[in-house]
Amino acid sequence: MAEPKVNELMEKIVSLCKRRGFVYQSSEIYGGINGFWDYGPLGAELKRNVKELWWRRIVHEREDVAGLEATIIMAPQIWKASGHVDTFSDPMIDCKTCKGRFRADQLNETPCPQKPSKMVSECHGEKTEPRAFNLMFETHVGPVKDDSSIAYLRPETAQAIFAQFKNVLETSRQRVPFGIAQTGKAFRNEVTPRNFTFRSREFEQMELEFFIKPDEVVEAITGTVATPAGPGHPGEPQPNWGWQMWHQYWVEERIRFYEGIGLPRASLEEYWQKPEELAHYARACVDILFKFPFGTQELEGIAARSDFDLSQHQRFSGKAMTVFDEELKAAWARLPKEKQDELWRRYCEARQRYLLKMGEEPEKAAALARADADGLAKGWYIPHVIEPSAGVDRLILALITNAFSEVTETDAKGRNETRVIMRFHPRVAPTKVGVFPLLKNKPELVKKALEVRDLLRPWMTVFYDEGGSIGRRYARQDEAGTPFGVTIDFDTLGEKPELRDTVTVRHRDDGHQERLAIKDLVGWLLERVR
Ligand code: GLY
Repeated sequence: MAEPKVNELMEKIVSLCKRRGFVYQSSEIYGGINGFWDYGPLGAELKRNVKELWWRRIVHEREDVAGLEATIIMAPQIWKASGHVDTFSDPMIDCKTCKGRFRADQLNETPCPQKPSKMVSECHGEKTEPRAFNLMFETHVGPVKDDSSIAYLRPETAQAIFAQFKNVLETSRQRVPFGIAQTGKAFRNEVTPRNFTFRSREFEQMELEFFIKPDEVVEAITGTVATPAGPGHPGEPQPNWGWQMWHQYWVEERIRFYEGIGLPRASLEEYWQKPEELAHYARACVDILFKFPFGTQELEGIAARSDFDLSQHQRFSGKAMTVFDEELKAAWARLPKEKQDELWRRYCEARQRYLLKMGEEPEKAAALARADADGLAKGWYIPHVIEPSAGVDRLILALITNAFSEVTETDAKGRNETRVIMRFHPRVAPTKVGVFPLLKNKPELVKKALEVRDLLRPWMTVFYDEGGSIGRRYARQDEAGTPFGVTIDFDTLGEKPELRDTVTVRHRDDGHQERLAIKDLVGWLLERVR
């Protein structure tokens, strides 16, 4: 079958999302609200599965990551320290003719509201000069609405992790290298939300801040700093890894995660940001991109943020963000004087560069940097961080667009029918198994089917359906993306005695069926859906 055109495909996907209850427009009965989306019954399950899987892989299955759940509204000083108050903005222009507001850097891709056949960059509307528009949503805390009560809905979950770094370190018994993970809502007042749920004003993130030793500390302790030998996964973490190894490790780990939930490697791309594209805090950043129908766009950014964030919170809060490392203290004492001097100098220069960039007076910056470098000999340093930061909603959209497929079948009367199969990986599929009595007017079949449903329910999401022909019931579950269908038929009841208490299991993607004993069902399904 010919590939549908991009817009046509997105229209089909958006319509399926609404029809089957994956995604609805927020506040639809009032005409909607631009940039906000709700997840319906199937979408909510899909989203929970993705977040739970991320949490399991990142937190539960590792020794070196602890979780956090922080508030959405935090002390506003956090956003001053992070740079969001001063720099988290997009360039915006107004059109004096149509009164529209647009991202100045997206005029070539934004249709003119009055002449949709033309892009805003080509239409004749009179435009203002671009100006910075801060993307944070403001609110007020407490009953008095003045400048002193301004607070922000968090634009990222990351900053709470930095602000709570010392608490987690002290209560979790972790030692650097280790990570802190958090999932949760974030808010950005996008000038032009677009591409369905891809760029929303309220969205969810899954962020890991993985704290590592600065390269100078690694070198002092192990004598070397390992750097990547080439592309690919560098294997199990080693004590001599520098930041570039950790960065590559997390890029590859995250790609494995995406492959493990059904996004083929060929649908993903790695994009290494150019120096001029890097955020103010980043040393390097790799975007993992997905080939959406509307273009290849970012799913996740993996940034090497140096010690920027902890240093900022140390300066703004006055609370030390340094860690003590006994191994460093002991190793430093054993180093030859020239090595100590070399590492001291490198660390001091890096600290000085950061302090000058943040506007400290040169003399003060030099004194502070020297004090920081003196800390090495006593075992103290500020950890660096690698940040894999994923957007949940864009991942859900990637999974939906990747799963969407249409098949055309000819029925017994020779009529062609095109229907949708959502080919979700069983790990993320909203419903894991459909349970069907072959016929609904046979009480013994219904009774047995309800028993099978109740057997499976404690373990996974089950949809019981007795309405309509078995073919229609299979088709409904194919469209919901349910990977397995269990049918209770007369053989289950013992019509063929050797098949008593067995059922058919139908596979969504190719429709093939096999027979399994009811007693083996839970184990068989769990192996495939976990
Ligand atoms: N924490 C990085 C981001 O939200 O993009």
